[in-house]
Amino acid sequence: MASGRLDGKVALVTGGSRGIGRAIAVALAAEGAAVVVNWVADQAAAREVVAMIQDGGGRALALKADVSAADDVAALFETTAARFGPLDILVNNAGLARYGPIGEYDEADFDRLFAVNVKGTFLTCREASRRLADGGTIVNITSTVTRVMLPRYGVYAATKAAVEQLTRVLSQELGARQITVNAVAPGPTDTVLFRRGKTEAQVAAMAQGAALGRLGLPEDIADVVVFLATPAARWISGQCLPVNGGFA
Ligand SMILES: NC(=O)c1ccc[n+]([C@@H]2O[C@H](COP(=O)([O-])OP(=O)(O)OC[C@H]3O[C@@H](n4cnc5c(N)ncnc54)[C@H](OP(=O)(O)O)[C@@H]3O)[C@@H](O)[C@H]2O)c1
Repeated sequence: MASGRLDGKVALVTGGSRGIGRAIAVALAAEGAAVVVNWVADQAAAREVVAMIQDGGGRALALKADVSAADDVAALFETTAARFGPLDILVNNAGLARYGPIGEYDEADFDRLFAVNVKGTFLTCREASRRLADGGTIVNITSTVTRVMLPRYGVYAATKAAVEQLTRVLSQELGARQITVNAVAPGPTDTVLFRRGKTEAQVAAMAQGAALGRLGLPEDIADVVVFLATPAARWISGQCLPVNGGFA
């Protein structure tokens, strides 16, 4: 593999088995990072990502962990360190989305969304606070829906708003170690999560909401995450960057 901007770095991508996380894992590896591809349900998909990276000459490993379970997260970080050495880059991408009016929203769905999206990010950030190499990077994937008032997105948007505040505070707590902590907030991006439960007409309408007139692709998000992990972004911390083609 040709030399890349992340040669010698070790990265962990939660939910790296498909969608945006898959594109992030592949893009980090293409820049030379050794990448842990975390998954929880779809082992075959995670293995496919690892094989794709290895076929390109990169280093990768698939590790199962439910990010909402503290023991799983501890084991995930332990195995990452044992196999690849100290972690430099954490991307908190694993997430769930379920939509519905707040007045009708199911309590179990509320708990599950907060468990995966918020507690999951908290647990990995807590581990990373203890283990991340000085000069490392954390990127949390949030969502553009924290900036708009989309009916039916209330609970999902609330989980992402919580992650954005964790991001800002953690950047202050880890800054002395030259660790940057940022959030990337995608707009509508063409993945399983985005398309589930939507008609083609609804998908097309969301695509037209972007100034650039199309859905985002996972690679559109991955390129920005890679940038935040490179030395070129060393002076960016505590920020939440909308990556949405001008979605309003
Ligand atoms: N797509 C969009 O339009 C959009 C827009 C804004 C923000 N986002 C955010 O971007 C992130 C990725 O979204 P996506 O569209 O790529 O979703 P996706 O296609 O549904 O992929 C979700 C990934 O998260 C993993 N995952 C789910 N629950 C997990 C858990 N408890 N522990 C570990 N991994 C878990 C899944 O693993 P398995 O395959 O093993 O289940 C999968 O790899 C999410 O945080 C989402 O909220 C997406």
